[in-house]
Parts: sequence; structure tokens; C-alpha cells
Amino acid sequence: MALPVERDQELELEQIEIELLLEGIHRRYGFDFRQYAPASLRRRVRRRMDGEKVETISALQNLLLHDPAVMERLLLDLSVNVTAMFRDPTFFLSFREKVVPMLRTYPFARLWVAGCSTGEEVYSLAILLAEEGLADRVRIYATDINEAVLDQARLGVFPLDKMQEYTQNYIRAGGTRSFSEYYVARYDGARFARELAEGVVFAQHNLVSDAAFNEFNVIMCRNVLIYFAQPLQERVHGLFYDSLAMFGVLALGQKETIRFSPHEPSFEELDAEERLFKKVR
Ligand SMILES: C[S@@+](CC[C@H](N)C(=O)[O-])C[C@H]1O[C@@H](n2cnc3c(N)ncnc32)[C@H](O)[C@@H]1O
Repeated sequence: MALPVERDQELELEQIEIELLLEGIHRRYGFDFRQYAPASLRRRVRRRMDGEKVETISALQNLLLHDPAVMERLLLDLSVNVTAMFRDPTFFLSFREKVVPMLRTYPFARLWVAGCSTGEEVYSLAILLAEEGLADRVRIYATDINEAVLDQARLGVFPLDKMQEYTQNYIRAGGTRSFSEYYVARYDGARFARELAEGVVFAQHNLVSDAAFNEFNVIMCRNVLIYFAQPLQERVHGLFYDSLAMFGVLALGQKETIRFSPHEPSFEELDAEERLFKKVR
């Protein structure tokens, strides 16, 4: 019967070590993961321990504090960069139907894709807006905490073997042309048309610690807040609220919501399933 207690103690010790590790990272590198969701953090720290071949979190901390290359590798683990073109196609379908008509009423609109990872979502959005005749009237700001993924996003080259899946997504998202018109196959992957990225500004921005930097008509942030604990999610909701123009749209996608957040009363639901919200007060 002593076993469960030992297990509890082990977990508690691990939690303390993780907190110390995150404190060290914050002080040494300025990245603040202290309010990320604990279960996901624990998995990723363990993965980095395996990767660095160390047995304890303290040993990982020691490595991290002295070697920025280890920090970069942990950053890649922590920032979970999984993404896809036209991911959750019904989201883009709804965006076409519910947000595009609103964008048409503006002479010019600014859109922010927060947590854009390697850029697949940004190119999807740029394709959609081009098909709707809005390419010249929008500017997309695409940001992420991680410089390495932004470099990839700037290139606009995605794995060739994904194109079949992305073509299916594109069709289900209401695409009106042939998807293969948008890229050329090269030895290094599918290279997307340069014009798509002409209206896009890629920049590093940390949702945890950076302030609002512009006023937007649309903010898209999908599959990012799930990694944050509730108080941090609420801080980011506040940041989005401050960064949205009146009647601007917050597009969170199927996994996240502002329901039950203190900012909920400031928004009206445009699409309950795809989590599109309009700022109304
Ligand atoms: C799973 S990806 C989501 C990519 C894309 N939005 C999508 O839905 O396909 C999560 C992204 O959030 C970024 N991220 C994590 N913490 C962040 C933070 N504090 N500030 C900005 N971006 C962050 C990660 O670097 C990663 O690229």
C-alpha cells in the first residue's frame, strides 16, 4: 500500500522540478511557459530529457541554462508545431460564408494569424482571400513565438507527399479552383506561389508576454490556447479583445472557446461549431 504514496511523491517532486526549470528558462531566456497546461508540459519535458539523454529534470535544467542550442530544441518540443493546409476544412467553409461578406464591406482589412507555425494556415487563408477577390485589400500579420517555424513559413514550401490530403481539404473548404495551380513541385517540396505571401508580414510575437501591436478586423488563433492553462488563456483573450476593432471577428476553431471566459459578454457567436465570435462591445 506504500506504493501509491511514493508515486504521489514522485509526481510532486517532478512538478517542483518542472516549475524550477520553467523559472530558470524565464530568467535566462525570457520565454514564459509557467502557465502552460501541466500535463502537456510534462510530456514534452520528458521527451526532451530522452532527446538529450539525461535522467533527471535538474540535469536538463543544467544543460539548458548553459547551452542555448538545448533551449532551441526544447522550444521546438514545447511549441508543438503540428499544422496542415485547410486544417478542419469546415472552418474555412464557414469563414468564407460568414467572415468574407463582412470583409467585403471594408476598403482595407488587417488580419492576424497568431501561432501560425510553419505557415500552412496562412497560405490557406491567402488562397481563400485571393479566390474571393480580396487579396489586394487585406494584410495578414502571421506571428509565432518560434523563429525557426517562421523561417519555414516565409519559404512557403510544404511537403509534396501532403498535397493529396491538402487538395481534399481544399475542396471540402469550398475551394473554387484546382489546388495544383497554387504550387509547383520541386525537389525540396511543393513551392507555393510567391504572390500569395505578398500581403503577409511574418513576425515573432509571444502571446504570453508581448503586447497588442495593431488593430485587426480578424484574429485567427487555432490550436494554440489548448496548451495554455486557464488564467493564461484569459490573458490572451484580453489581448485579442484589445487588438480587435469593433465588430471584428475572433476565429478560434473547433478546439477553443471564449465561453466561460470573462470576455465572453463582449462577443456574439457567429458560428458555434467553428467558434467564430464577433466583438460587439
Ligand atoms: C499546434 S500549432 C498550431 C498551428 C496553426 N494555428 C494550426 O492550427 O494549424 C501551435 C503554434 O503555437 C505556437 N505558440 C505556442 N506558444 C506560443 C506563444 N506563447 N506565443 C505565440 N505562439 C505560440 C507554437 O510555436 C506553434 O507553432
